[in-house]
Amino acid sequence: MTFTKNSRVLFNSVPTGYPVPGETTVYDSTQTIDLENVSLEGGILLKTLVLSVDPYFRVLMNGEGHPASFQIGKPLYGFGIAKVLRSENTGFAIGQHVFGYNLVHEEYSVVPDPTGLQIMDKVANLPWSVYLGPAGLPGQTAYIGWKEFANAKEGETVFVTTGAGMMVIQLAKQAGLKVIASAGSEEKVKFMKSIGADVAFNYKFTDTRGVLAKEGPIDIYWDNVGGDILDAALEFSAVQGRFLECGAISGYNTGHQPLKNFHLICDRSLHIHGVLMGHLPIAKYIGEFYATMLPKLASGEIKFREDVSHGLDKMGDVILAVQKGSNKAKAVVVVAED
Ligand SMILES: NC(=O)c1ccc[n+]([C@@H]2O[C@H](COP(=O)([O-])OP(=O)(O)OC[C@H]3O[C@@H](n4cnc5c(N)ncnc54)[C@H](OP(=O)(O)O)[C@@H]3O)[C@@H](O)[C@H]2O)c1
Repeated sequence: MTFTKNSRVLFNSVPTGYPVPGETTVYDSTQTIDLENVSLEGGILLKTLVLSVDPYFRVLMNGEGHPASFQIGKPLYGFGIAKVLRSENTGFAIGQHVFGYNLVHEEYSVVPDPTGLQIMDKVANLPWSVYLGPAGLPGQTAYIGWKEFANAKEGETVFVTTGAGMMVIQLAKQAGLKVIASAGSEEKVKFMKSIGADVAFNYKFTDTRGVLAKEGPIDIYWDNVGGDILDAALEFSAVQGRFLECGAISGYNTGHQPLKNFHLICDRSLHIHGVLMGHLPIAKYIGEFYATMLPKLASGEIKFREDVSHGLDKMGDVILAVQKGSNKAKAVVVVAED
């Protein structure tokens, strides 16, 4: 028997504000695994390659109250790509790659029931991490949410927050809209301009209301932040405007603030749509998504940027960076090379 280190990231305590690396989450390098002999219970053995770090992690850290909450003393889990090392399941072969939405944050995992995993084929010049970013959760949410709810017409104006998430800006430009986009650093502002945003600004130093007063009214608001910026978007909305509510990160760590401009939803006949990946009609769009977006990502027609960290020991820092906004682009942690 040969035991191999199988490090992991444990959820250690419920944070009161921003997650604290080493306290909220703990890197544990004491676990080992016998890769040759560990029982698979009819399932498969995975080698974790790359993990996605997402804003929603903070929602799962609130203790009880969310059906998918992280459990104290247990590893984190999330979207990721892994390679099959051993298999007792006829649906999965050694060497295949799989995509999972609840891959455990550890180097090697036994998955007794792998039916929820999706076998992936890689497009030659794209890294696996693309399947966690522009071709993964954020990309698919943007694509499907946009197609299903934006009802976009050429010449309309859209406002996108956390625009460095990149996909909504490019979909909107391709549909012929004027795009106003905000993010929290000059580097992100530059990037948003480079992918087509007509107006890009740093919401930390530029007054959002001033920008929307000049460049609006806005027909579509793609909201990733909630809070005061959502109130500003309501203030400068057009009649029959569409609000796509995709995230509310401004309240994840410090508490959500109540809306002041709620009455405008009625006054302007606005359409409000919650956009949560798990509730979107994925089956309706996923074939079309991969068929159209993967070639565009591979050719560079759709641009993307990633913020890649290496090693599970970095996970706590990357989680905090995503909450604080110091990540430069879609955050991923590479656990092992293919
Ligand atoms: N609903 C869904 O199913 C779903 C699925 C996937 C993704 N999403 C959303 O899509 C967006 C892009 O995803 P991603 O993975 O690429 O994340 P991301 O944009 O890299 O990370 C979240 C960003 O939120 C910004 N932020 C943090 N605190 C903020 C605040 N108080 N006010 C305004 N912005 C703040 C930060 O950027 P700044 O530098 O701009 O502050 C941070 O980088 C995220 O907002 C995510 O919630 C939603």
